[in-house]
Amino acid sequence: MQVSPITLGTSFLGNPPTPDGAPAPAADELASALLGGPYAAVDTSNNYAQGRSETVLGRELRANGLGRGRSVITKVDADPETGALDRDRVWRSFEESTARLGLSRLPVLHLHDPYTVTADEALAPGGAVQGLRELREQGLVAAIGIAAGPLSLMTRYVRSGAFDALLTHNRYTLVDRSAEPLIAEATERGMGVFNAAPFGGGLLAGRTTRYAYRDSPPDLLAWIERARLTCQAHGVDLPVAALHFSLRNPLVHSTVVGVNASRRIADLERMRTTSVPEALWTALAELGTPPSTIDD
Ligand SMILES: NC(=O)c1ccc[n+]([C@@H]2O[C@H](COP(=O)([O-])OP(=O)(O)OC[C@H]3O[C@@H](n4cnc5c(N)ncnc54)[C@H](OP(=O)(O)O)[C@@H]3O)[C@@H](O)[C@H]2O)c1
Repeated sequence: MQVSPITLGTSFLGNPPTPDGAPAPAADELASALLGGPYAAVDTSNNYAQGRSETVLGRELRANGLGRGRSVITKVDADPETGALDRDRVWRSFEESTARLGLSRLPVLHLHDPYTVTADEALAPGGAVQGLRELREQGLVAAIGIAAGPLSLMTRYVRSGAFDALLTHNRYTLVDRSAEPLIAEATERGMGVFNAAPFGGGLLAGRTTRYAYRDSPPDLLAWIERARLTCQAHGVDLPVAALHFSLRNPLVHSTVVGVNASRRIADLERMRTTSVPEALWTALAELGTPPSTIDD
C-alpha cells in the first residue's frame, strides 16, 4: 500500500450518534473530506464509535468510491458483548468491518488493543493471530498489524514475528519517547511503523489538558508551557513541533493524527509543510525528560 507522511485517524467519526444510534449527520461531510484529502490512508477500527466510524466511511465509499492509491486501514476488535478475541472472532470482526466499509479486501488489518486475551492465547492455535494469518493467506488482507499501547505487550507481539506492521500511540511524542526501542526493533524486522497520537490525544495541539486520555499532573503541564515558550522563541507553534517530532523520524512510515473537523485537514497540511529550525530540537532536548503520564 501507499502511505503518506500523515494518516488520518477516525476514532470519533460518527459521534455523537443520533437518538436512534445512527451516525451524526455532519459525519458524512467529514468522511468525504478524510477520504478526499491530501493523505493516502484513513485509520479506523471495528469498534470506533461503536462501528459508526466504519459505517460513515462506508457510506462515503459507496457514494464516491475509493480514490486511486488510497486506503482504509481497519482493526479487529474483541466481541463487544463477551470480550472473545480468538480466531473465529477475528473472522467475524473482519466480516463486520468489510460489510460496513463495502470493501472486500483490506491493505492492512491490525489486531486492536488485545487486552481481553493474553499474548500467549492470541498466538496459540485457534487464537486471534491464526485468524489474521488465514485472512492474509487467503489474500483478503495484504498485511497484518498489531495496534495497542503497553510497550511490554507490544514488544511480545513484535518479537513473535507474526506481524507486518506496528501501530504505537502516545509513546513517541514530544513528551514521551518510550516507544523508541520498540520502533527500532520493528524496523529491524522490516515492519511498517505507524506512530499514532502525535498530539498525545490533543494536549500538544491545545485541545485538552489530558495526555494519552489521562489527567495531566501539574509538572507535565509546566513542562509543556516551557516547551511552548521554547518553540515560540524559535518562531514555531507547539503543535507544529509536536507533529514534526514524529514526521522527522525516518523510522516512522506514517503519523496517525485524529481529526474531528474537516478544516483540520488543511490546517495539518499547513503544519506539515512548515519548516522547523534544527536548533529547536536541541533547545527542546535541553528542557530535560518530560514527565509523561505513561508508566508501562
Ligand atoms: N490502539 C490504537 O490502535 C490507537 C490508539 C490511539 C490512537 N489511534 C489512532 O490514532 C489516531 C490519533 O489519535 P488521537 O486522535 O487519540 O490523538 P492525536 O492525533 O494526538 O490528537 C487528536 C486531537 O488533535 C487535534 N488536532 C488534529 N489536527 C489538528 C490541527 N491541525 N490543529 C489543532 N488541533 C488538531 C484534534 O482536534 P479536533 O478534535 O478539534 O479535531 C484532536 O482533538 C486515532 O484517531 C486513531 O485512528 C489508535
